[in-house]
This record gives sequence, C-alpha cells and structure tokens, in this order.
Amino acid sequence: MSTAFASSTGLRLAEHVARLAEDHPPISLDSVDFTVLRPLEFEARFGHVLDYMARVELEVDRNVLELTTMLPDPPEIDRHFYADVWQPQEIQHGLILDRLQVELGRRPAAPDLDSIGLKLKVLGALAHIVPFQDVCRMLYYLTGMATERSAVLAYNLLHRGTLDMGEHAIAHTIIGQIKRQEPGHYAFYQISARGLWAELAAWQRWMVRLMRRSSFSPVGANNLRQKADFGDVMATLGIDKATDDFAEQISRVEKELLWASHRGLKVPAYVLRAFHEAVELAHNRPHLPHLHL
Ligand SMILES: [Fe+2]
Ligand SMILES: [Fe+2]
Repeated sequence: MSTAFASSTGLRLAEHVARLAEDHPPISLDSVDFTVLRPLEFEARFGHVLDYMARVELEVDRNVLELTTMLPDPPEIDRHFYADVWQPQEIQHGLILDRLQVELGRRPAAPDLDSIGLKLKVLGALAHIVPFQDVCRMLYYLTGMATERSAVLAYNLLHRGTLDMGEHAIAHTIIGQIKRQEPGHYAFYQISARGLWAELAAWQRWMVRLMRRSSFSPVGANNLRQKADFGDVMATLGIDKATDDFAEQISRVEKELLWASHRGLKVPAYVLRAFHEAVELAHNRPHLPHLHL
C-alpha cells in the first residue's frame, strides 16, 4: 500500500506544481497600480500590517536557506516547488507590498535574510540520516501548512478591509492578486503532509509530535517583538476577537494527522497558546495602543 500511496501522492504533486507554475506566474510590477486615494488614513490603519507581511514574504530567501540546511537531500518535487515556483512568487509578494508601504511614506521592511538558528543547524546535521530527514520534512510541511493557511486568511481580511476603505486599485491589483496565489501553496503542503504522514513509522511520528510541540510559532514571529507585532496584525484584522477559530483553521489538518487519537480536541494546545501569547504581548506594550483598547 505504501508504495502505491507514495506514487499517487507524487503524481498529484507533480500535476499540482505544474498547474501552479502555469496558472500563477510571479506577479509583475507592471500589472500593479499603487494608487491610494487616502494614503494617510490607509497608512494609519494598515501600514503595520503591510510591513509585517512584506517582511515575512521577503524572508522567503532565508526560508530557502533554512530548507537547504534542514533538507540536504530533498525529493525533486520539493526542490522544484520551492526553487522554481514558490520562491519566485513569494519574493514578488514581498517586493510589491514593501513598495506599497514605501509609497505610503513608511520605511521599507527589515527582513532577516541570513540568520539560521542553531536548532536548525542541528536538525540539518541529523537530517543526513535518511529516516530523520523524513521527520524534518514532515515538520517543514506542517510549518508550510500553518503559514500558508495564515496567509490565505490574513490576505482575505486585508482585502476586505481595503475594499471597505474604497481603495479599489490596490485591493484588486495588489492584495487580490497576491491572495489568489496562496491557496496553491497551502495545497502543496497539505498533499505532501498527508502523503508523508502515511509513510512514517511510529517513532518518527512520535518525534514529529514532540518537536512540533516545542517549536510552533505564528508565521514570521521568531522573537518576542515579532510575536507582539503579530498580535497587532491580529488586532487590526479582527483575528484577536476570534483567536480560537483562527487557530483551529490553521491547524485543522495538523490536528487530524498528529492528534487523531485525541478525540474531542479542537486545536492543539501549543497552537492556541502561541496565538494567545501574541495577543497578550501586543496588548501589554505601548506600541499602537489604539488597537488594544
Ligand atoms: Fe505570499
Ligand atoms: Fe505563500
């Protein structure tokens, strides 16, 4: 069964990536209209959201570096996806959002492009042992799912907010175009995660659960300040009022795969904890206090 499963997953992934490449070329700058009718109001409301998203999108280049460290010998389809399809799309998201915030008079984002944590280096060293590389790959797919699902939800909310402010040019040509590319990324990780999970031995699954529990963090939140920044983004997009629901949506498949035996569990506790922590950190600092009345 496992070989048949693997090859059907491989086929689906190959078709999926080919379709993504065909249907979603990187967004060109020429197709973007940076016209903002009320720049002061728009910046005051969404400026920090643009900055957060631009930074995370631009950090795609560090993500690729992390990937090559963590997965020294990836399956060809993974390499093809992240190098030829995903990175070129994400970097355009970052460049366009960053240009928009600069047009609004803000400083450009300050992405961290080259610091790879010690934890990852250790994982990378261990990943030369093939069964351990599969553990790393599973963690990569889980992170990918949570990240891309967060992006889908956040861009939907930002798109709505932008339309509500009557900023149709950027809603259609920037946020609208970007948000259409994220579900395909999510689907790639979901198909991969389901396929690989079915192949893992009990000890590998145990290890994935253990490592995931101790390493989960919201997208782009690698330190306390970034976690608080993420809390501000949640507040502006209204996610802080529906944190549990958001956490459930971004971890649905992870819960189904990793925690299937925990009946009645709605959201893994570490996911919920991370989001509540972000809301709290944002609330407890003087930055943008109007968001946290
Ligand atoms: Fe993106
Ligand atoms: Fe994405």
